[in-house]
Amino acid sequence: RKIVHYHQIDSTNKEAKKLAASGEKEGTIVISEEQLAGRGRLGRTWISPAGTGIWMSVILRPSIAPTDASKITLLAGLAVCEGIKEATGLPVQIKWPNDLVLHNKKICGILTEMSAEMEKINYIILGIGINVNTDSFPEDLKNTATSLKIEGEKEYDRKEIVKAILMYLEQYYELYMKNQDMEDLLEKYKNHCLTLGKEVKIIHRNEEFIGKAVDLSKEGELMVEKQDGQVITVFSGEVSV
Ligand code: BTN
Repeated sequence: RKIVHYHQIDSTNKEAKKLAASGEKEGTIVISEEQLAGRGRLGRTWISPAGTGIWMSVILRPSIAPTDASKITLLAGLAVCEGIKEATGLPVQIKWPNDLVLHNKKICGILTEMSAEMEKINYIILGIGINVNTDSFPEDLKNTATSLKIEGEKEYDRKEIVKAILMYLEQYYELYMKNQDMEDLLEKYKNHCLTLGKEVKIIHRNEEFIGKAVDLSKEGELMVEKQDGQVITVFSGEVSV
């Protein structure tokens, strides 16, 4: 496996995209000690200070339909969750679809970026950001973000965590490619998922309401029961807890 390691970079996702666009093979990983312009979902920035976190991006070229790309994100969330748990023993949970939380605060985010043409995926960049040994967060993030060190009250070895994550990622990715369905992986996912059984706030077809997350569909979408008993299927981006 090829790992490209940087001391400092703007964004590992951006670099991985460049590599992928110029033909880099599947499985190559870009990792950096520090990101100067780390990117989060919804156009947000991702704070990525030197030496305290895991900032990495994986190049994938799955032979699946672009419409199934969200499953790669789910599978990645599961793999990262299990990897961190194995390496640290901390009770990490998945907030659907793919935020990882510890004691209800976010420790990891995943940003998947895809390039597809003519119903075919060219590449997927799986960007994983984990707050490992971060000591503190800015005031506006304090209530929602945390690190493994803050919660576990000790430093963790980033290499051990990366190793465990890549082991699960490879295993689950291969399983999904082989089966071309998510059944087994979703069963595992549900065991770690904090969202199920909880009340969630949904913005669905321009309507905002509170519902109860009751299950995941076979495709990995969230099934939410509205107050009138009707169950609807929601996609990522529609949920805020
Ligand atoms: C989120 O908003 O929850 C997703 C955060 C993803 C951050 C990671 S860090 C490595 C990779 N490079 C980036 O610029 N972003 C992702």
